[in-house]
Amino acid sequence: MKVYGALLALLQCTATILASVAPSISGPDKIYGVNLGSWLVLEAWMLPAEWAAMGGETCDDCSQCIASEFAYAQAYPKTVDFAFAKHWPLKDAGINTVRIPLGYWIIEALVDRKTEYFPRGGLRYLQRGLNWLKTAGIQAILDHHALPGVQTAGQQFTGRCTQDVEFYTDYNYHRALVWTAVMTTISHLDPSFDSVFAIEAVNEPIMDATKTPGYGDFQKNFVNCIRAVELLLGITVPGETLNFKLPSTNITDAFNVAASSSGSNIFNDEIRSVLKDAVPILTGIVLELGILNAQFPSALVHSQRTPLVANFMDINWQHNNPANPADAAIGPQGYDNHLYYSFGGVADPTEEAYLTSICNLQRVQADAALGNTPLWFGEWGLPTQFQASDEFLFKWADAQKLAYSQGKGWIFWNFKTEISEQAGDLSRQWSYLDGLKRGYLTQDPSQYNDARVCDSYRNSSTSKRTNQDLTGASRLG
Ligand SMILES: *[C@@H]1O[C@H](CO)[C@@H](O)[C@H](O)[C@H]1NC(C)=O
Ligand SMILES: *[C@@H]1O[C@H](CO)[C@@H](O)[C@H](O)[C@H]1NC(C)=O
Repeated sequence: MKVYGALLALLQCTATILASVAPSISGPDKIYGVNLGSWLVLEAWMLPAEWAAMGGETCDDCSQCIASEFAYAQAYPKTVDFAFAKHWPLKDAGINTVRIPLGYWIIEALVDRKTEYFPRGGLRYLQRGLNWLKTAGIQAILDHHALPGVQTAGQQFTGRCTQDVEFYTDYNYHRALVWTAVMTTISHLDPSFDSVFAIEAVNEPIMDATKTPGYGDFQKNFVNCIRAVELLLGITVPGETLNFKLPSTNITDAFNVAASSSGSNIFNDEIRSVLKDAVPILTGIVLELGILNAQFPSALVHSQRTPLVANFMDINWQHNNPANPADAAIGPQGYDNHLYYSFGGVADPTEEAYLTSICNLQRVQADAALGNTPLWFGEWGLPTQFQASDEFLFKWADAQKLAYSQGKGWIFWNFKTEISEQAGDLSRQWSYLDGLKRGYLTQDPSQYNDARVCDSYRNSSTSKRTNQDLTGASRLG
């Protein structure tokens, strides 16, 4: 036992060293991940006792009480330690990836303080947390989870519970692009952000594509924005070159030159306007975070970096003729699908129907047919619409992991939830760490309690499954 433990520690140590010296950051081969939900975008349902202690409220319609971050703008100081004090178990559990939900308000200059109320100071917590993750050899996806103007109605995860959805407008697309330009820049310049390999454009947009006008153009500009910044940092972007000379002074000067250059595909009018607006924001952030690299001639410093993965919810997240994010690709791209059975619309609420559905899941194949590869499952969990037995949860965890591993891998929602009287049984089906403790989830995430769990369920029902597959919804997280 002891010898085995020492060997394991040595292996983990070697893996960490390899991870931290590897020059390429295009992400792990297979993703075994967890979401760091409720760290920088607080969702009260996940921490009911803490929320009540903070003076927050709980109600059925979350727009009607103090149930979101917007409604309680002092959230950070209380929640930071909630997340990080207990992070080390993730490394021991073989987790190689985290998805970090972020609000647009973490870039404070983007908040219109006359009408929008959010806490300040998140960026430095993010920097500190990413530093810890880097030390642990865990790679990170920066997930734009709560968008300016709110991307979907009545959800705590957008930071503001409201029916007034205004993300799908030029003004708010622009703010999201400035956010993207800033995040891309610091991801490449600040060594604390070395573990970042992907930025996700929009978490869970409205599923009906007729209600998201302009989203296809936004997808293209999201990619243009990341690649424009990378070109300005001297990073090689496949198939793209600059048609103007970079100044050799510093980053913000390079942005200014690009903003006043003549347009090209990537540096179109909107992107040049985004770069211009990013300059004063970056000037402040470079000082605040103490980013020294911003002063050096970019091409010399950054030629070792590789382009970030541009990450989108997959095309099949939406229906009614959605834009295909694959059409936006320049350089590496990755796709995200979320699957929860507990909100209905996926399978009948029985053990048999759940396992039949998941064991025959065709989402990876359906996405691949539309160019949405690699696909990972960026949110899933163990919740069910029925009272699940322990015995079922062992199968339910294995069967989902098998299904999602057909693609690039999986990211569990959430790494933990509150354990308290108010929270009741919440953590049993929503917390990765609790699932490990209870044994549903295996210490080595690439393993299974029963790798043959699906054998007797595959193709055992009729074909009506496929359509349901594609419209099954997540409404939380
Ligand atoms: C870049 O240099 C200009 C002067 O040329 C200065 O005003 C600006 O603050 C610098 N930006 C950064 C990020 O250091
Ligand atoms: C199940 O059906 C799909 C498509 O109908 C097929 O591609 C697949 O090979 C089948 N799997 C098994 C285990 O029979």
